[in-house]
Amino acid sequence: MFESHKHLGLTNYEFDVTAHEIRNTLYQLGVPQKEVGEFMDIIESYRSKVVAPA
Ligand code: HEM
Repeated sequence: MFESHKHLGLTNYEFDVTAHEIRNTLYQLGVPQKEVGEFMDIIESYRSKVVAPA
């Protein structure tokens, strides 16, 4: 995951925007709030592998 993203120089803000899009998509599809929370915990676990080191 780190190798796929490091050349993109992604910021925490860009990660937040993408995570928000994912949450909104799950909401629009009617996924229950509990499962959305569980899925977003998994998404959050990728932050340090996707956001470029400062
Ligand atoms: C939880 C967060 C994320 C996950 C799980 C994820 C997952 C992936 C995966 C699996 C790939 C393909 C790796 C490969 O087989 O080559 C990829 C590539 C890519 N991701 Fe992400 N990604 C995440 C966040 C982001 C964000 C926040 C952005 C930009 C705002 C982004 C932009 C890209 C781009 C542009 C590529 C293609 C890079 C290239 O091939 O040059 N990703 N991502």
